[in-house]
Amino acid sequence: MDTLEGMKRTHHSGLLRKENAGEDVALCGWVSRRRDHGGLIFVDLRDRSGLLQIVFDAAAMGEDAFHKAESIRSEYVLAVKGKVRARDAETVNPNMETGEIEVVVSELRILNKAKTPPFYIQDGVDVDETVRMKYRYLDLRRPEMQANIILRHKVAKVMRDFFDANGFLEIETPMLCKSTPEGARDFLVPSRLNPGEFYALPQSPQIFKQILQVAGFEKYFQIVRCFRDEDLRADRQPEFTQLDIEMSFMSEEEILTLMEEMIKDLFEKTIGKTVETPLLRMSWDDAMDNYGSDKPDLRFDMKLMDISEYVKGSDFKVFNDVLAKNGQVKCIKVDGYANIPRRELDGLVEFVKIYGAKGLAWIQYSEEGVKSPFKKFYSDEVFENIAKATNSKTGDLLLVVADQRLTVAAALGALRCEMAKRLNLIDPDKLCFLWIVDFPMYEYSEEEKRWKAMHHPFTAPRDEDIEFLLTDPGKVKAKAYDMVLNGVEIGGGSLRIYQDELQAKVFESLGLTKEEAHTKFGFMMDAFEYGAPPHGGIAFGLDRLVMIMAKRNSIRDVIAFPKNQSARDVMSDAPSPVDDKQLRELSIKTALKKKA
Ligand code: AMO
Ligand code: AMP
Repeated sequence: MDTLEGMKRTHHSGLLRKENAGEDVALCGWVSRRRDHGGLIFVDLRDRSGLLQIVFDAAAMGEDAFHKAESIRSEYVLAVKGKVRARDAETVNPNMETGEIEVVVSELRILNKAKTPPFYIQDGVDVDETVRMKYRYLDLRRPEMQANIILRHKVAKVMRDFFDANGFLEIETPMLCKSTPEGARDFLVPSRLNPGEFYALPQSPQIFKQILQVAGFEKYFQIVRCFRDEDLRADRQPEFTQLDIEMSFMSEEEILTLMEEMIKDLFEKTIGKTVETPLLRMSWDDAMDNYGSDKPDLRFDMKLMDISEYVKGSDFKVFNDVLAKNGQVKCIKVDGYANIPRRELDGLVEFVKIYGAKGLAWIQYSEEGVKSPFKKFYSDEVFENIAKATNSKTGDLLLVVADQRLTVAAALGALRCEMAKRLNLIDPDKLCFLWIVDFPMYEYSEEEKRWKAMHHPFTAPRDEDIEFLLTDPGKVKAKAYDMVLNGVEIGGGSLRIYQDELQAKVFESLGLTKEEAHTKFGFMMDAFEYGAPPHGGIAFGLDRLVMIMAKRNSIRDVIAFPKNQSARDVMSDAPSPVDDKQLRELSIKTALKKKA
């Protein structure tokens, strides 16, 4: 094996262009592709900057050196010296950025060999994600993955520059914290020095960033890892990164405007996209009623429409029962899809059930007339009126769900996105940002039979709703806001409660006694007795932002070392059992039987 001794790399391969023709260069990289034409070997050399064709010519370099070149295989690590040469017109490769040139090699050094990789190191490989994860170092060698990670670096850099320029300080907060209730499940860390006691990994730096306001830092931000023991999805990881922000003495308006400026700056400087500001603002109620979601995807229309008034008072028991219980009958219109295959309709019935709907009905305004499972219960006039109200024409399809408000929203909201995907209604180049505002302060947990904070218990209620905190919690709206992009919640925050009487009242409304609140959040309540300034903030999901910027469908593609769907790192095989000795030191016994 050769070494780099005495050779200094002069260029990155992917950056060489026609203007470099004639130059002597020294390059390093991996063998991406090798084609042997007998007497001529072509290799695509890959480094972080991209690919470049290098040529080994037996006639030019001599038999011995050429013989060595013949031993090269995929992913070998090479260093070469050679001369840049412009390619003939007919051999130019328009698919490569360096396609107009090649480097004719005069000296080859093989720095290392490589086993044959389990999959091709190239864009768009169709391999099982588990294999990609197990060999993550090879997966990350693929140009598209390198681009994602490089974009992620730029995103963090532009964010830091923006906040620095606006007077914010990046301050680190602890990873070993006190476990506090509310929110997701905590990851726990046993304390060896305090047997039987546990730290929690932070779900977010929420309490610390608020205490930093009490401490007088006024403007804080941090790019920070957060940990939540939740069920995973394409846009959820057990550890993920937030751009976390908190500031004092600023109004909601000022905070939202500053965040819009940050987003504008970010998209401009990283992917060259212009974001029009101010962003659209939509109340939570409007989002739920019109789009069936608190993170509506506005890249396509297909709004939810209420047809309750047209279908009430008939003999159709399904609709009658729902309307009698204050429910609603709503639909979405799928343009030109009246001839949907029956099998697909049956599939959609199963689809809405995932979201809690008890069933799905439809109206097909087809060439042969109206088709609908509830046709016999209504006159032609009713179907005409519904057509008018929903602006339906011959050829259109209405998908109908009858249920309570939030179930209708969940089912039709999901169906709306599903149909748009199936029918290709989404323009992948569009960026549709909006703010969701006027969130309810509480949501009712049927499971626990109590009101829970929708955001977190430090979120301030709207001033005009304070009087209902204890009497009618369902009516209270919060000074909270989410930023949504293309149907993904990319950020969320609020103005905080900073006066302890109000905080006590909110804890009480959540069913926490003064004592309970004190055991759980005592340190924070203590701090707030020493002059807390009015403050508020927000946190953005950095992984989600980069995912959308990189046009990926999963945040796993923009995280160097993600966990799989079962929260495992398949490369290092974590989590894993530990020695009994380690457990004893931590005063921990597991209740599980040892695997044989
Ligand atoms: P929230 O819980 O809304 O707010 O989180 C903020 C943003 O973080 C992202 N996010 C996630 N990304 C990947 N995987 C996850 N498991 C995950 N969970 C959340 C989302 C979300 O919008 N402390 C508050 C913020 C505040 O009030 O200032 C908080 O954490 O993009
Ligand atoms: P069922 O009486 O349950 O057989 O329902 C008769 C028809 O009503 C079904 O074929 C569905 O098309 C429709 N349906 C049932 N439940 C609902 C619902 N919750 N929302 C909309 N349509 C429904």
